[in-house]
Formats: sequence, structure tokens, C-alpha cells
Amino acid sequence: MLSLANKRILLGVTGGIAAYKSAEIIRRLQDAGATIQVVMTRAATEFITPLTLQALSGNPVHLELLDTEAEAAMGHIQLSRWADAVLIAPASADFIAKLATGQGDDLLSTLCLACRSPLAIAPAMNQGMWRNSATQANLERLRGRGVHIFGPTEGSQACGDIGPGRMSEPEDLAELTADLFETGSLAGKKVVITAGPTREAIDPVRYISNHSSGKMGYALAEAAAEAGAETVLISGPVNLIAPDRVRIIPITSAQEMYQAALKEADGCQLFIASAAVADYRPVQIAEQKIKKDTEQLTIELVKNPDIVSAVAALPKRPFTVGFAAETANLENYARGKLERKNLDLVIANDVSDRTIGFNSDDNEVLVVELKGSETIPKINKSILARQLIAKIAEMISND
Ligand code: PMT
Repeated sequence: MLSLANKRILLGVTGGIAAYKSAEIIRRLQDAGATIQVVMTRAATEFITPLTLQALSGNPVHLELLDTEAEAAMGHIQLSRWADAVLIAPASADFIAKLATGQGDDLLSTLCLACRSPLAIAPAMNQGMWRNSATQANLERLRGRGVHIFGPTEGSQACGDIGPGRMSEPEDLAELTADLFETGSLAGKKVVITAGPTREAIDPVRYISNHSSGKMGYALAEAAAEAGAETVLISGPVNLIAPDRVRIIPITSAQEMYQAALKEADGCQLFIASAAVADYRPVQIAEQKIKKDTEQLTIELVKNPDIVSAVAALPKRPFTVGFAAETANLENYARGKLERKNLDLVIANDVSDRTIGFNSDDNEVLVVELKGSETIPKINKSILARQLIAKIAEMISND
């Protein structure tokens, strides 16, 4: 069953008679669970109205690069960050040429330049234009850059010709789009991920916690499931919907997370600790609500067990990945954690920057391993999670 649940697909529509099929593509992508935003080139609007695609997608259709209103709402950079994948269908010969030469003179071409998510095109054109060596050279160039080319198929064309150049059918395009997320790189592996905050009770109504929203951990769980892993997500209290195909174990405190993690890590091949675990908990939890009848209140705290270190110390340890939430000296502190906690990889983020780290949709990380480090610039957490899972899967397969 094809699944695009929780996936954000940006559908680019360029000028060609096959643009009428874009309406059907939106439907098929939605059937698979995707949310759609549409960007049309000016030529596309000659073939199908923005209103039709707006009504079907349920979102405003984006047309102009230099539209102040649109830029304020969702400009080309936000759109490129929003998309989990970009599908351009139909992709005209002219637009393919534009992509191949890296032009950015309209909204669609500009966001393709800015976008780091998978990019797929569904060519649609006359058979002569398709066979032309200029078009084929452009496609070769795009393939070399990792652009996915879906179709075209052969058959009778709107112009009366018969041959290659017909856009693939909407069902097939939806299926191929879903395949973009099915890497299979962790097939047969069990992955355990911790996410969100923990809450350490003070009394029946109060607790100590932190600002973790769980977004980073949930995105990692989704990416691991997409990569074919049996995925277990041990989650603190968050307001997120569990990703498809992921088994959730809800916990509240660090001690509960510790117990669940040690149980689930036994026999798993990959453990990722993205949770923001409270380092300390109150020594005693008051049975009744503490009354505010003193000017000062002292709460004695005791250290919580270090979950990721305990997993890394297991006799049959999984590949173990920790996070490092830092406000300065990212690399030094992350490297310290890598060594002290005996980890295979540490993903460090600067939590003093409010646009990344805690509770934001984006993150920027420094990936630290024994032999070196690499920065992944600011990007949507879903896309980042996919990149991290791909990197980790490669490290495991080389292990
Ligand atoms: O949830 P979001 O809003 O999306 O935010 C994401 C995030 C900022 C929480 C995430 O990217 C992140 O940095 N998670 C780790 C937060 C943290 O607690 O970092 P730390 O440097 O204090 O801990 C280092 C590592 O030890 C972490 O992998 C942590 O999960 C682990 N740890 C810490 C304490 C403890 N008792 N047990 C642990 O396993």
C-alpha cells in the first residue's frame, strides 16, 4: 500500500497540455495521505486555472516570485524548506532546460534551486522534442545531479504524433513519489529512538521539565520507518501524532524512559537518544500538593540514570547515537560526550538559537564522529532526519 502519510509534497505545474492531469495527481497524492502545495508557472495557467488546483489542494496556489503578499505568507525559501519532496508534473522541455542550466527566474525554478529535498520531474512533450539531443542532454545532466525522472510513456499525443513524451499516469506518479521515501536502507533492523522531554514530579500537580517538543525524535522515527526499520519510539509527553508504522511507548519520567530503553534496546541494532532527559529529579515526591506558606522552598534533587550511556554499555551494544544540546563550544562538548558516553555518533545542536533546536520546525546540526565532523545547515527537521538516517544506515553497513 503506497503511503505518503504526513508527507508534504510540492507539486510544480509547468505549461503543457498534460497540465490538466495535475488535478488528478493532487487527488492521488492526497489519497496516499500527502499534504499538497501547488506552484504554477505562468504558462501553466494557460492550460488549467489556479482556482481549480487551489480548490483541490486546499491551499493557495503560488504563482509569482516577487509577490510581496505571497512572500510574506510563504515565500520561495519557506516553500523549499516546507517540502519533503518536489514533483514537477508536467515538466515541459523548456522547464527541464531551465533546471539543467540552474536558472532561477520564476518561483518554481528558484525554489528548485533552494530546495534540498528529493526533486522529481515528469516530462511531457511532443515525441520530437523528447528525442531531441538537447532535451536528452539536459535530462542526463539532471540525472547526474540526483533528480528523479518519472516517465514519460509512449503513445498517441495531443498533437497527433505517436511516440515517447506522454506524461506518466497520475496513479503511477503518486506511487513513484511514495517510492522516494522508501529507501529500505534499514530493512530488517530494529531501531529504538527516545524523544521529547521527561517530567520529574515534585508533587501531584508540579514537575520539572524542559522545552523539548519531540519534533526531532518523531521525525527520526518516521525516517527510520521509511527506511524499512522496525521502529520503536519511547516518547515523553508531547503534542504530536505518532508516525505511521512506529510503535510508541509513552513514558513520563526519566526512570520510566530508562527502563523502557533498556528493555527495547536488547536486540536492537540502532539506538538514537534524541530525548531531552531531565538530568535530575526530586529525591522525594510530596504526596500532597505543596502549600506556598514559606518564603523559600528547597527541593533536593538526585541525578537520573544516563540512558544512552547505559545502552552503549550493554554487552551486545547497538550502534548508539546521542544528541548534544549545547549553547557554546558545540564541537568540543559534543566530542566530550562521544568519548565519555562511548557513542558512535553525536548530533550537536545549538539550543541557544530559538530558530533551531527546541520546539522549532528546523534544526542545524554538527554531526560528530571519531574521525571528523560535518555541519548540516539549517533545514526542516523531517528532511534533516532523513539525511541523518541515511548517514547512520551507511555507517552501520560499513561497520
Ligand atoms: O524535541 P525538539 O523540540 O524537536 O528539540 C530537539 C532537541 C533539542 C531536544 C534535540 O535535538 C536534542 O538536542 N536532544 C538532546 C537533548 C539533551 O538532553 O542533550 P544533553 O546534551 O543534555 O544530553 C546528551 C545525550 O545524553 C542526549 O542524547 C540525551 O538524550 C542523553 N541523555 C541525557 C541525560 C540522561 N539522563 N540520559 C540520556 O540518555
